[in-house]
Amino acid sequence: MDPRSEVLLRQADLFSGELLLAGLPADDLLGQLPNARGWSWHAGDHQQLQARFGDRCAFGVEPPSAPFEAAVLFLPKSRELTDYLLEALACKLAGRLLYLVGEKRAGIERAAKQLAPFGQARKLDSARHCQLWQVKVAHSPAPPDLERLAQRFSLPLIGGPLQVVSLPGVFSHGRLDRGTALLLEHLDDLPGGRMLDFGCGAGIVGSCLKRRYPESELILLDVDAFAVESSRLTLAANGLDASVIAGDGIDAAPRDCSAIVSNPPFHQGVHTHYEASESLLQRAASHLSPGGELRLVANAFLRYPPLIEASLGRCDTLQEADGFRIYSARRER
Ligand SMILES: C[S@@+](CC[C@H](N)C(=O)[O-])C[C@H]1O[C@@H](n2cnc3c(N)ncnc32)[C@H](O)[C@@H]1O
Repeated sequence: MDPRSEVLLRQADLFSGELLLAGLPADDLLGQLPNARGWSWHAGDHQQLQARFGDRCAFGVEPPSAPFEAAVLFLPKSRELTDYLLEALACKLAGRLLYLVGEKRAGIERAAKQLAPFGQARKLDSARHCQLWQVKVAHSPAPPDLERLAQRFSLPLIGGPLQVVSLPGVFSHGRLDRGTALLLEHLDDLPGGRMLDFGCGAGIVGSCLKRRYPESELILLDVDAFAVESSRLTLAANGLDASVIAGDGIDAAPRDCSAIVSNPPFHQGVHTHYEASESLLQRAASHLSPGGELRLVANAFLRYPPLIEASLGRCDTLQEADGFRIYSARRER
């Protein structure tokens, strides 16, 4: 059981009604709180919750439409995303209770101050290195407009500027990451056909690929519903056509790709883990057609080449700059 869920269950009598658990972990909490429903924006967690609890858990960037009489937000990583989620919940909870739970090392103490616009917040519990906060929503806000909270910026690229629409919580919100910038300089000579942008974030790499290879089918994939929505908005802002999929890891990607291009993830919440990237490197071959290419950017300190070589054979370093490397490997014909 996630420690945040354990903290909630210490006060289980507070959570016996029609409760919405927003951003809940994929554990047994819904099993322990039979009248609660879940709302997840992480495709992997959602898939696991759906397998166990069916339609009691919804997926997306907006709260589910079914009414709820109280809500708990599991603190996400980004401050801007926390603001959006608190408003999206508080606007449906006039005069009712909104809770915030999170780990101390994730900054719950500071995040609790974000409850202030809705009423007088109080700390209910502190255990398992987590805190639980509660506010009675005295000032219910208007429903937030997610698109209005997007940061929009323009990247000056060869072939014309690219408009980027970045939603709260999406990687490198409002600016171009240095690793991504290096990858954009190395998109030449990829085999066209079906191209995958794995871990698409705001859709910058996928949009550039579609521009560069207009005859190719472009697929953008991310685990995070806010990234998926951002990518759709970025593609639309540039008049580009591509498929955007919510999915967890390379197993959610189609097969027979001519190229997989990625700035793969290596941080997830407060816990660092490389699982999604390692499985991408280990299993890319089964998603590439013969002669297909895996091309990625990664921090130079990450020991990716041995993993790539074990799956695809020779791995070339196309460039090293600013602490990043561009790797390229092809599946044999
Ligand atoms: C380093 S960011 C790159 C984002 C974007 N491609 C860019 O360059 O700006 C990695 C992305 O991978 C996504 N991600 C993390 N874990 C994932 C998983 N298991 N499956 C798919 N995408 C994942 C994150 O949500 C994030 O958007």
